[in-house]
Amino acid sequence: MAILHILHYPDERLRRKAVPVTSFGPPLQRLISDMLETMYDAPGVGLAAPQVDVDQRLLVIDISEDRSRPLCLINPEILECSDSEQMEEGCLSVPGVYEKVERAAWVRVRAQDRDGTSFELEADGLLAVCIQHEIDHLEGKLFVDYLSSLKRKRLDKRLDKMRRHNM
Ligand code: NI
Repeated sequence: MAILHILHYPDERLRRKAVPVTSFGPPLQRLISDMLETMYDAPGVGLAAPQVDVDQRLLVIDISEDRSRPLCLINPEILECSDSEQMEEGCLSVPGVYEKVERAAWVRVRAQDRDGTSFELEADGLLAVCIQHEIDHLEGKLFVDYLSSLKRKRLDKRLDKMRRHNM
């Protein structure tokens, strides 16, 4: 297994639309294991393939306290959603930034597991938020896109300063 490099906003590669996974062989199994290891190492509760520069429709999530319940969604689709709530979100591709985002409070999702078997999942709370956040990554969308333009401008300035500081 290996820790993969996570792309950071505003890297344009995070904006690509990912393509469906069609092959469930050893390379995909290795990628899933590496993505889980990368997510646990970061640490984070979710990671989508585009964040590690792989433009495939695949994401991993683990919201359990003891990091023992990995969830892998391949080619996920939101079938139904309802209500909305605001929750503070962060993203491994936008380190150090936490902002409130409004999303559906409940979702029903269809996806394939790592063997290619189709399944459905209902989620609310943090898991629902996490699933929507990670599916956005597959569309080239980031949580900062939901912020008001004023907040976004402030954020870009702050990140710019951080980058110059680190150079
Ligand atoms: Ni993210």
